[in-house]
Amino acid sequence: MQPPTFATVTIERILPGGLGLAHIEGFTLFVGLAAPGDVVRVRINRIRGKVLWASIEEIIQPGPERVEAPCPYFGVCGGCDFQQLSYRAQLKAKTEIIRDCLRRIAQIESPPEIAMHPALQEWQYRARANWQLDPVTQRLGYFESGSRRVCDVDVCAVLAPRLQAVLGRVRAELQAGSVDDLPRDIRAVVGDDDLSVAPPLAEFQLSDISLAIGGETYYFNAESFFQATPGLLEGLIAEAIRDVRGELAIDLYSGAGLFTLPLARRFTRVFGVEVNTRAATYAVRNLQHARLENAEIVTGDVGQWLRGQAGSFSQVDFLLLDPPRAGAENIVIKGILELNPHHISYVSCDPATLARDLKKLLAAGYALSGIAAFDMFPQTHHVETVAHLERI
Ligand SMILES: C[S@@+](CC[C@H](N)C(=O)[O-])C[C@H]1O[C@@H](n2cnc3c(N)ncnc32)[C@H](O)[C@@H]1O
Repeated sequence: MQPPTFATVTIERILPGGLGLAHIEGFTLFVGLAAPGDVVRVRINRIRGKVLWASIEEIIQPGPERVEAPCPYFGVCGGCDFQQLSYRAQLKAKTEIIRDCLRRIAQIESPPEIAMHPALQEWQYRARANWQLDPVTQRLGYFESGSRRVCDVDVCAVLAPRLQAVLGRVRAELQAGSVDDLPRDIRAVVGDDDLSVAPPLAEFQLSDISLAIGGETYYFNAESFFQATPGLLEGLIAEAIRDVRGELAIDLYSGAGLFTLPLARRFTRVFGVEVNTRAATYAVRNLQHARLENAEIVTGDVGQWLRGQAGSFSQVDFLLLDPPRAGAENIVIKGILELNPHHISYVSCDPATLARDLKKLLAAGYALSGIAAFDMFPQTHHVETVAHLERI
């Protein structure tokens, strides 16, 4: 049967990836910017077999947790896709997304209770931004959803006020001068007292900035990775490391050392592995500043490093991995299993790839001993998850 061009459907729940789920006449629909319980008239935009992708044309009856999105760019800007949900519904949807991935992808029949840590601020929380400038249209802001077109954003509702001021200043430069003098891709990040912009522009420099988190000081700049939501980081570190102590800990995808420093206070010896030279250099500096001499930062690819480690360590007590969204490659899972760590702490920004990797670790003799989530990205479907595994 041919699918219709328009349909009226009821949204059942929110799926991993943030789309709403609906069914009609044997077809499964994925609907953008939906809320559970919405009755909506949708337009079908894309078809693959029995799966249809659709966008809302009209809200016939709003679901109980639907709210008016406060941002004027909502629905066009690719940044936020959860503003239509009350904050309570956002947290519920994220918990369900993680549980769904654990059941469907990791095939864990009864996942443990997921402790969800809400954001400290639902708005104006982002301490890091990546803006685009289109020289032809002279638009400044973020890419539109699913496109390379730039959405012109004057005021961004999730941006920390000090970054909003930078965005305003860049816009003033654009209006006052020549677009050719400005970069197309601008990164900015704020620390406790300072900010860093890459490439430098107007009065803003690519400065080293610092954040104090959980008694440690971390230096970094706009060109190296650092988490975008400082408020929850102390709790994230505490959950990822818990009260573990021992001889040897390994921190894979270690960035500027967010977890390496606290690990170095609890373990006799620590290795951090990070491919980005700038981030690795900051990690070394952060360890030096903390006078921690028992941790070594390896600048290189995690998979390659693990390949060379078989037989190097008699016992790995604790292994933490915090990979990018794509999760851990097969070679990384294989290398971790060869190291046979007693305890694995997996920090992930994508529940689907986390679940894919957990399935492999569970099949190889680990048990899931706890799972927690941190709402680092309010108003979006993104969520940070920490999973703990013990060797059986
Ligand atoms: C999600 S970030 C986590 C960084 C750090 N743990 C933190 O929380 O600040 C992932 C890090 O992995 C690094 N990375 C990505 N692919 C890598 C690879 N194949 N080998 C080593 N590091 C990698 C990135 O440069 C980035 O710093």
